Amino acid sequence: MLKGEQLYEGKAKKVFKTDDPELLIVSYKDDATAFNGLKKGTIAGKGVINNRMSNLLMQMLEKKGVPTHFVQELDDRDTVVKRVTIVPLEVIVRNIAAGSFSKRYGVEEGVVFDTPTIEFSYKNDALGDPLLNTYHALALKLATPAEIDTIKALSFKINEALKAFWAECGVTLVDFKLEFGRLFDGTVVLADEISPDTCRLWDSATGEKLDKDRFRRDLGGVEDAYEQVMSRLLSHI
Ligand code: TMP
Repeated sequence: MLKGEQLYEGKAKKVFKTDDPELLIVSYKDDATAFNGLKKGTIAGKGVINNRMSNLLMQMLEKKGVPTHFVQELDDRDTVVKRVTIVPLEVIVRNIAAGSFSKRYGVEEGVVFDTPTIEFSYKNDALGDPLLNTYHALALKLATPAEIDTIKALSFKINEALKAFWAECGVTLVDFKLEFGRLFDGTVVLADEISPDTCRLWDSATGEKLDKDRFRRDLGGVEDAYEQVMSRLLSHI
């Protein structure tokens, strides 16, 4: 697979063209940002872990009937994915109160919900990814009603699969962010990544944070947390 011209550089990944117009190569970086790019740093080895982890989790989800952009892992940091146009929504599923949910509603972190919640943000860095509801998304023509229904159904299905998988690894899936894309034929598939950058993962026994919150909140042991959660995953895949 030919790695062609760079199309885009994001905060955590670069995207390259290939010789096939329907395929791209994503390349995972060690760069880390938080608070809409205000905080910047490096997490050594993160790109390698996120590439591998996201690919393994997406393959697991495919087996359970969730369509994803994953095609083939090329090496430590590079993966071939189907070319999509990203639906400009950040979809957040939560099982336990944490982060912006706790802050916004004054709920202590760690409160377990009776049923999972879902929320959407408008994926727009200039506006700071503002929270919106599905009516706003329709008004802004970010997605069609049918796409929103598909995205919601897939997101809850993904939550059930990931929650069960992480539980087997002794890890509690607190919340996570997903992005979806449209293939050339309009099919909606899971895109972007699933990794400690995009999920809150707590040690089920101790409650220790094993995700990017260690970087966001200056808790230290960032690299160790990523390695720990990866080795837990590898022992159960
Ligand atoms: P939040 O509590 O800050 O809204 O984050 C919810 C989840 O979404 C958490 O698992 C981290 C993830 N997330 C991202 O992947 N990218 C982002 O830009 C933000 C703000 C959160």
